[in-house]
Amino acid sequence: MKSYGCQMNVYDSARMGDLLRLSGDVETQDQTEADILILNTCHIRERATEKLFSELGRVRDIKAARAARGRDTQLVVAGCVAQAEGPEIIARQSAVDLVVGPQAYHQLPSLLSKGASGVIAIDLAAQAKFEALPLPRRDDVARRGVSAFVTVQEGCDKFCSFCVVPYTRGVEISRPVADVTAEVENLVSAGVKEVTLIGQNVNAYRGEGPNGGRWSLGRLIARLSEMPQLHRLRYTTSHPRDMDDELIEAHCDEPKLMPYLHLPVQSGSDRVLAAMNRRHTARDYLRIIEKVRQVRPDIAISSDFIVGFPGETSADFKATLTLVREVGFAAAFSFKYSARPGTPSAERADQIADDVKTERLAKLQELLEDQRQAFNRACLGRTLEVLFDKPGRYQDQLAGRSPYLQAVHVPSGDARIGEVRCVRIEAVGSNSLSGRLVDASVMA
Ligand code: 5AD
Ligand code: SF4
Repeated sequence: MKSYGCQMNVYDSARMGDLLRLSGDVETQDQTEADILILNTCHIRERATEKLFSELGRVRDIKAARAARGRDTQLVVAGCVAQAEGPEIIARQSAVDLVVGPQAYHQLPSLLSKGASGVIAIDLAAQAKFEALPLPRRDDVARRGVSAFVTVQEGCDKFCSFCVVPYTRGVEISRPVADVTAEVENLVSAGVKEVTLIGQNVNAYRGEGPNGGRWSLGRLIARLSEMPQLHRLRYTTSHPRDMDDELIEAHCDEPKLMPYLHLPVQSGSDRVLAAMNRRHTARDYLRIIEKVRQVRPDIAISSDFIVGFPGETSADFKATLTLVREVGFAAAFSFKYSARPGTPSAERADQIADDVKTERLAKLQELLEDQRQAFNRACLGRTLEVLFDKPGRYQDQLAGRSPYLQAVHVPSGDARIGEVRCVRIEAVGSNSLSGRLVDASVMA
């Protein structure tokens, strides 16, 4: 299984793995040994389809070589390209046996066992998928390690004019509170210490409560925080429109909720935001950040940006730089606008030249990188709680994450993977912090 794109795909790949292990399959890292090959694809930006076809060309050769040795291979394309381009995939690459969309992969075991060939399964009913997915077995959960994703919400009704998600993932649905709780309990009982609640619009969560009614994400977080063995909670990705007071307050009231907020703004220009159909202004965004910082002054703010949206002038771009300077981001993802087939803004005549996009992106990234480094440098000399999740780069080192999601390395001493320990930060590298363990009693 090869997974591309966002955390939702990482989660989906893990669940597809669980399903196939239930049918007796085992994972292999050697593609030439695989009886089933799954590409879990992403459609969000850039020549996704072309990249997939070149990968499929390579995989077709593996399949042909195996056939020459008398071995069958079932080739599956899953994920968002599958959803968007199903028929084209089957028509253009005859080696593909099965195309399965993000809301239909629960059908994978039965389709594979029937020896599906040229089959396209792209229903868009996320609810049906979640109802059909069994809880993963203990052994399977143990593979998730210390930190795991749990999808609580899926799909998007926002229809930003640049984005394919509403077409590939379907309408917004939220999983019931009881389902989420059961999945998190299952993870925690197998040793998971940190759970990241994920959804395309995770803070639009409105899951059915145990006694009816709808629960917000803030309330769900409060409920999950009650699990004693769960140390940390995170959530991503949020939309500014759905950043309600209950969720903001949770950053003050719930110590297990980590001080990190990924809140995409896309642009700092109201004109561009309106054309993007974002339904918020730059001011709305700044107000939210102010409110969040009032309850949690140290919170790390992260965002997504698009430069070179159709019609973006240099004044619009400057407004983005101004917003960035006002906020001060701890981390960010920034992209050149990419016209996605089928989205409204792809049809616009005023597309921006690539060299202009390149120049703007470089400027924006320089500023964002300076801010990231400044945020990291400000941690020097501080004592941070670190959740250790893997061995470090060198022997006798451990690697983990700070509350602000920074990578941290320490000499391991008596610390173990899965523990949260206090670390004094002594050096700041370009991509990680390093320090040493301090006795917990030293922490104020
Ligand atoms: N072009 C460039 N970036 C895009 N994103 C989504 N669609 C596009 C597109 N057509 C970015 C947005 C979003 C992130 C997941 O990907 O910034 O928040
Ligand atoms: Fe795409 Fe906008 Fe929905 Fe995010 S909120 S998934 S950018 S349509």
